[in-house]
Amino acid sequence: MDSNSRIPGPHGGKLINKFAAKRNIDEMFSIEVTNDLRNDIENISDGIFSPLEGFVGQDDFESIVELGRLKNGLAWTIPIILDVDVQTAVKMKDAREVALRVGKDRFGIIYVEEVYSFEKLRVIKSIYQTDDLDHPGVIKMISMGDRLIGGKIEVIKRILQSPLRVHRLNPFETRSEIHKRGWNTVVGFQTRNVPHIAHEMLQKAALNIYDGLFISPLIGKKKPGDFKDEVILSAYESLIKNYYPKERVMFVTLHTEMRYAGPREAIHHAIMRKNFGCSHFIVGRDHAGVGDYYHPFASQQIFKNYTDLGIEPVFFPAFYYCKKCLGYANDRNCPHSPQFKEELKGRKIRKMVGLGEIPAEHLMRPEIVKVILSYKDVFVQ
Ligand code: ADX
Repeated sequence: MDSNSRIPGPHGGKLINKFAAKRNIDEMFSIEVTNDLRNDIENISDGIFSPLEGFVGQDDFESIVELGRLKNGLAWTIPIILDVDVQTAVKMKDAREVALRVGKDRFGIIYVEEVYSFEKLRVIKSIYQTDDLDHPGVIKMISMGDRLIGGKIEVIKRILQSPLRVHRLNPFETRSEIHKRGWNTVVGFQTRNVPHIAHEMLQKAALNIYDGLFISPLIGKKKPGDFKDEVILSAYESLIKNYYPKERVMFVTLHTEMRYAGPREAIHHAIMRKNFGCSHFIVGRDHAGVGDYYHPFASQQIFKNYTDLGIEPVFFPAFYYCKKCLGYANDRNCPHSPQFKEELKGRKIRKMVGLGEIPAEHLMRPEIVKVILSYKDVFVQ
């Protein structure tokens, strides 16, 4: 490796791989999981959640909730948990190997180490800083089963390939690609939106400084009113094709659900991109936020508590279109008064599109508008 390389090692030092040889798990006691959870199980197996080797046990869980760290002190802000209802927990008795399935499709095993309960309200308040039922993360956690199973996992059967997964790579693959390209610095960009021009300007500002740009849309469960995964993918394919120097960009999807946990999720997003091999990570205005639950820059401030993260955050102020500057600007470089400033937020674009309005060219590229118009239904129901 180039001695100037700033590519970090995996979080916790070792890239986890939990794929196992085929074995017969047909007769094992089994529990059913959702497709969303199956995605996360595959993320564990592929090392995207390194150093986790499975679902966290109670000590790690409590430590994450209270301190935003694993019990060994390593930064970790979102508990990765497997929930079941009390009846299932009772039926499991003391089964130590339990098959994991979606419907009838058995794909993996959890080696059960413990089954424990948790105080939902306390946990919710700590993770989301609110217990408001209108918060999509809060409602999701309220409806979880009352018991959590901790233990290492193994995957025997991968999720089938599909059009939404053609840009999925594992950290081993992204790290070899980064190495092949000879990049010493790579800046990660998380998104859950169809790109507007402020997104593009953030990415291109970062491209002025870092060797490679790692565009990494989150593909998976999102709240009603967010853009559908297929629209986000097509929009980015078109943006990269028409507006980016291809040799400076990697486009790699991350298949997990959006948790809308603002600051805590910003750290989680950064850790996953560190595992992919990013040295830097963009955090702009209201990263991973929803509604007005978090201060627009809370997701930047939290990084002060994580100077040991091993991936460097790149903070940007709010970018807006300035009619005097005739381009994208922000409070650090533009002196003009509010009347000249046009704010740009995902929320605003979603509202315009929902009303059938076509965003102007200084807000969204015409190619992206064309992609949006080519879908009958662009929003998650
Ligand atoms: S997120 O939920 O994935 O954070 P989104 O896809 O809109 O939402 O944002 C992707 C990244 O761009 C985040 O880091 C966010 O803070 C940043 N961002 C989005 N719009 C702006 C803007 N107008 N100014 C500064 N940063 C922004």
